[in-house]
Amino acid sequence: MAKVLVCYYSKTGNTEKMAQTIAAVMKNQNFVVDLKRVEETKVDKLLDYDCIILGSPTYYGSMAWPVKKLLDDSVKFHGQLRGKIGGAFSSAANVGGGNETTILDMLNALLIHGMIIRGDHRGDHYGPVSIDFPDERALDCCKQYAENLAELVKKLFP
Ligand SMILES: Cc1cc2nc3c(=O)[nH]c(=O)nc-3n(C[C@H](O)[C@H](O)[C@H](O)COP(=O)(O)O)c2cc1C
Repeated sequence: MAKVLVCYYSKTGNTEKMAQTIAAVMKNQNFVVDLKRVEETKVDKLLDYDCIILGSPTYYGSMAWPVKKLLDDSVKFHGQLRGKIGGAFSSAANVGGGNETTILDMLNALLIHGMIIRGDHRGDHYGPVSIDFPDERALDCCKQYAENLAELVKKLFP
């Protein structure tokens, strides 16, 4: 059975709500899903998953440092995450506040690892974004994103 990690940092709960929503959809697909705060994620465990989805609030247009730390620590396994599926999502305070640059920064690292990223031709193209606490639109994007990734997981890790 495919294994999925939804790993996030969240100080005030906004990114956490997005993470919970994505993880719930993944669980419905009968994958083994771990929903973990980044602080409780051991870098060595990244190897266990077929799909790794990272979430971070937007901090100065990029990811919060605990997420960056996990990614920097993952250099230990450079090359070994190749072929896994990746994804990212973010919450910011402002429209145009850097949600997309934050997502792209996380995806950039996953691409350098050789991971497979799926975009979306509709909705939030790079990954789900929310402004503060996710509203209905943002939650729908989280659900759709999880369904899109689940479809890919099933194809690549049947
Ligand atoms: C250090 C710091 C930097 C931030 N930088 C930005 C920013 O560049 N753009 C923005 O729109 N919001 C910024 N914010 C606001 C957060 O991204 C926003 O409140 C987010 O929803 C918090 O997510 P959380 O509830 O998961 O912690 C910043 C907040 C903090 C604490």
